[in-house]
Amino acid sequence: MTTRRVIHRRRFLQLGVGATATVGLAACSTPARVGTTLIGPNSPEVAEAESARRAAGAAKESVRLNAVTGIVDLGGVQVDTWSYGGQVPGREIRVRRGDVLRVELSNELPASTSIHWHGLALRNDMDGVPGLTQDEIAQSSQFTYEFTVPDAGTYFFHPHSGVQLDRGLYAPLIVEDPEDGADYDSELVIVLDDWLDGIDRTPDEALDELMRNGMGGMDHGSMGGMPRSTLLGGDAGDLVYPHVLANGRTFRDPVSAEFKAGQRVRLRLINAAADTAFRVGVPGVRMRVSHTDGFPVKPTEADVVMIGMGERVDAVVTMPDGAVPVLAIAEGRDQYAQVTLRAPTTQMTPVGPEAVAELMKLRVLMAVELEAADRVAVRVKQPDVVHDLVLEGPGERYDWTINGKPYDPKDGLPIRQGQYVRLRMQNKTTMFHPMHLHGHTFQVRGSGDRGPRKDTALVLPGRGLNVDFIADNPGQWLTHCHNVYHGEAGMMAVVSYVE
Ligand code: C2O
Ligand code: CU
Repeated sequence: MTTRRVIHRRRFLQLGVGATATVGLAACSTPARVGTTLIGPNSPEVAEAESARRAAGAAKESVRLNAVTGIVDLGGVQVDTWSYGGQVPGREIRVRRGDVLRVELSNELPASTSIHWHGLALRNDMDGVPGLTQDEIAQSSQFTYEFTVPDAGTYFFHPHSGVQLDRGLYAPLIVEDPEDGADYDSELVIVLDDWLDGIDRTPDEALDELMRNGMGGMDHGSMGGMPRSTLLGGDAGDLVYPHVLANGRTFRDPVSAEFKAGQRVRLRLINAAADTAFRVGVPGVRMRVSHTDGFPVKPTEADVVMIGMGERVDAVVTMPDGAVPVLAIAEGRDQYAQVTLRAPTTQMTPVGPEAVAELMKLRVLMAVELEAADRVAVRVKQPDVVHDLVLEGPGERYDWTINGKPYDPKDGLPIRQGQYVRLRMQNKTTMFHPMHLHGHTFQVRGSGDRGPRKDTALVLPGRGLNVDFIADNPGQWLTHCHNVYHGEAGMMAVVSYVE
């Protein structure tokens, strides 16, 4: 290690969460200016942004959450796992746009934890990233999250501690819009997951194995067992999962929900998996996609949609006579799960592989093809600042990197309040990465500058993706791959407000 590197590291070591420090602006395309101050989670700017968000007399919703260990039934499979309140998914939290949500978390796990409110542009000190926005919540202790919920839509929450997301620690967070509801009659939340915990290993053991085996461990292509996807342009996952789930159930014993024929049902689809994208469709029924990642899009018809890890899609279907499955097919894997929609007096046995094969023939809508509704579209302009995010890996020890570096919370990509920011992501790997940004909903710049508003977007192997956002939520914000193993192995960076 050179002397220069030592000094460089030492300077960063003096930085605590919320502290101020001098940072260089080397990676920035705007003229470098040395001598800037980080806007940390406890800075006055964060408190000001929160009070600007909060309406006088905003309603408050209080929830108690217990993160616990115990046996959960996944539909014919019993597992000893970690969950919120002993159920998988955890109980949904439902609020209205503008409400103040207060969640008292009690950590009864044998490890420290945290909660990240995925997709919400909330106050930075409540974002739930240990080491960046808060301290870990130690075992046998409590932490209270409290924040204004700024936007309506379909969200979820999960820990941001190690690979805990790949246990049963996730639940939907639905934010109702008082102005919504005219174009559907009822709704159904469906959370998708890939499951290995408590079957043959824990997620921590799975990560250890990946790291021990490094690049060779996944045996992509040679073993035949690893998932591949033409649509996603390469490898579709790094692990073999014994089960995939829809609302916590395997295909053998699916959940069902009752709807009358002719009812328009808004499906709120959430992918909470760690390593699996899903194709979702309702055989014989067209879907009208209305939102992605919480934000409205120009309504778009589809038979099947692709949903990567961390992405959400809302789509309205009109209930036919009888019963139909909502099928979720794990991309590149021979696995699927379903939730059954059925008329009050009908029954339905789980569908077989024929229905899956039929759905696999249909065109798949990718979320980046969608277009933001006019009222939420970010008008394109010349960016004030551009940051490249070059995605690489895996290395010898299963290292995944952004810009050639492992995650370093003290070495962020600097931006300033009010800037129009562009992130230019380039995927130099052979696998897709669902890239997620905390605290903002960016505008994907697809062809002709059109695209959806999203917080998580698939970047395909060998391809690039530009996303733009307005820097209007001060703080230190993670951007990372939502494959939880990639993120944990280094594919994370910080978008850092400075002044
Ligand atoms: Cu749902 Cu940082 O992620
Ligand atoms: Cu990734």
